[in-house]
Amino acid sequence: MKTRIGIIGAMDLEIEKLTKEEMNSENIITKAGLRFHIGKLGDTDVVIVRSGIGKVNAALCAQILIDCFQVTHLINTGIAGSLDHSINIGDIVIGTDAMHHDLDLSPLGYDPGILPTLGDGPVLSSFPADPFLRSLAARACRDAAPDIGVHEGRIVSGDQFISSSEQRTRLVKTFHAICTEMEGAAIAHTAYLNDIPFVILRAISDKAGDEADVEFGTFEHKAAENCANVLAHMVRDISRAQ
Ligand code: ADE
Repeated sequence: MKTRIGIIGAMDLEIEKLTKEEMNSENIITKAGLRFHIGKLGDTDVVIVRSGIGKVNAALCAQILIDCFQVTHLINTGIAGSLDHSINIGDIVIGTDAMHHDLDLSPLGYDPGILPTLGDGPVLSSFPADPFLRSLAARACRDAAPDIGVHEGRIVSGDQFISSSEQRTRLVKTFHAICTEMEGAAIAHTAYLNDIPFVILRAISDKAGDEADVEFGTFEHKAAENCANVLAHMVRDISRAQ
């Protein structure tokens, strides 16, 4: 099957550099209120879409990309809150795996973030990113953003903007995650269920602590731009690397 990359960002600022400046747009198709931009980044076929914020929006958007646009790979791009003091605003995070931090069946004996399945299905916990996409992302960071810090580790997602040191500490202690956002695990989960390779690439807009709302407002545009630059480089490389 011909490679076609589905690229999901939650907000306009996370995709508009790609759709307006980087991609050769061929068509826009609207489904479920979402605008799917079909075209090319370099020689690579892409479908770029703004999912809206949160895990429900992200999951349904990912499933539409798979069912209606036949994407072969999924990439989630955008901004995130850092959970590690060594990861600074503007830095890039490449997810090794993703978990839902707001999924909690602990009264039933499951660890936080663990999803028991029915019947013989596996117990789902973390969703591992595709090694090939991770290595392409790391190379794109080295080539396109050599001055920016790059980090690899677990990303946790939930339907909450994390903006207190207490919430932040819980995510670090419970999940050992290095950044948090609101869509990645839902996209990873959808990719896993459909057997599609995925990676999450995020740039840090805030430290998810008590000042996160102010930091976010100040740095969201710069962080989103860092991420879009690396992503455009990475996706152009995909057809060459295969
Ligand atoms: N996206 C960017 N910063 C975030 C935060 N602190 N919490 C959740 N999502 C985010």
